[in-house]
Amino acid sequence: MKGKKWRELRNILSPAFTGSKMRAIFVLISEAAKEFAKYFENQNLDVCELEMKETYSKYTNDVIATCAFGIKSNSLEDPTNEFFTMGRAITSTSLSGRLKALLLIFFPKFFKILKLPAVPVKVTSFFKTIITGTIALREKENIIRPDLIHLMIEAKKGKLFHDIQQTKDTGFATVEEIKDSRSIATLELTDDVITAQALIFFLAGFETSSSLLSFVSYELAKCPDIQYRLIREVDDNTSKEGITYENISKMKYLDQVVSEALRKWTAGYALSRVCTKDYTIPPKNEDEVPLKLTRGCYVMIPIIGIHHDPKYFKNPDIFDPERFSDENKKKIVPGSFMPFGSGPRNCIGSRFALLEIKALLVSMLTKFEFRFIEKTKIPLTFTKTFNMNVKGGIWLGLKKRENKQVR
Ligand code: HEM
Ligand SMILES: *[C@@H]1O[C@H](CO)[C@@H](O)[C@H](O)[C@H]1NC(C)=O
Repeated sequence: MKGKKWRELRNILSPAFTGSKMRAIFVLISEAAKEFAKYFENQNLDVCELEMKETYSKYTNDVIATCAFGIKSNSLEDPTNEFFTMGRAITSTSLSGRLKALLLIFFPKFFKILKLPAVPVKVTSFFKTIITGTIALREKENIIRPDLIHLMIEAKKGKLFHDIQQTKDTGFATVEEIKDSRSIATLELTDDVITAQALIFFLAGFETSSSLLSFVSYELAKCPDIQYRLIREVDDNTSKEGITYENISKMKYLDQVVSEALRKWTAGYALSRVCTKDYTIPPKNEDEVPLKLTRGCYVMIPIIGIHHDPKYFKNPDIFDPERFSDENKKKIVPGSFMPFGSGPRNCIGSRFALLEIKALLVSMLTKFEFRFIEKTKIPLTFTKTFNMNVKGGIWLGLKKRENKQVR
């Protein structure tokens, strides 16, 4: 969606992703994280050897299934569950899938004129059946579950409001929601619109989060000092009763590690915008020329390039969570760190993503350490695709922790 229609929808949906609602949804996220770690604990192997991206995609799938569609799935135990296979069908990186994605970006009208569906009909009708059924059941039986469907049902009734205060307790990388009082909602949240949103959350959150998780795990395995410091923090802030939202928000080092991973392994590698007004960016330095942007032109902002510019981050290829210590993060140049984008059209799910990532890391590190194994590729190299696909995958070992005490 663009323009006014987009703004309306964003205003309706954004309260679902802030403050108290995220705290409530955390219960579902942490349950999925706990079950994920438990699955490997039950394998009773000294070291589990896994391709992390694929493995984590089962977690991010289950999290979206429970939070956005109201469905509990366990894709580790049952990788053939319909939800997971349908999800794969829309996020597939097959050549035809990638070509289609490119065509959609550059020639959207082509799809409109030929009435071609962006997502296979089989897939949309599957998800639509789930959502419509769930909404009907909830309305009939008055079921309340603290998930995104519930929040969208509330929004439909006009009962969803912004929290007055926006907190950053999900982490430093959290982006701010920019409220726009100009728009009065006339857009109706039909079952179709709700289904489409749930699908978007799926598409936007599935690959980005599993990819980031696999890169953090790789960096932890590579730098034992960082891993052990993080494990100590996890041990200090968790108990047998399980993890709470408060416990997560107290873990400062965890936030540093995740922020640094978001910098180095920028899943949303570029932002795209369409220019709506002619504008000339004036030169700042003597050797620069004015840059003319004309209305309608397509602008790409290469965040990953900015994140790796030594002008902003010294020795950019080194994974160093100290860049985000209390002391150092004040020195970060505004606009040089934007893993979740920038402005009104930034990532609506930044809080959700940070909680999802942190909950999983904590659950894993209470039981395991990440280790390099023979299959681990050092260094990582990428395939020539439009996402961060690592050649040969990210193979790591999950080594059971001996006891609570580490070096
Ligand atoms: C590590 C995980 C994630 C990263 C790095 C990420 C990054 C981004 C980035 C860079 C953008 C574009 C922002 C801009 O153009 O300024 C974006 C947009 C978006 N993201 Fe995320 N995202 C993540 C997870 C999620 C999750 C879990 C959800 C949903 C639950 C989500 C939902 C969205 C949506 C709906 C948009 C479009 C917003 C709009 O156009 O109004 N993202 N994300
Ligand atoms: C975790 O958070 C809960 C409150 O949500 C608190 O009672 C508990 O003491 C915390 N655990 C640790 C080990 O800090």
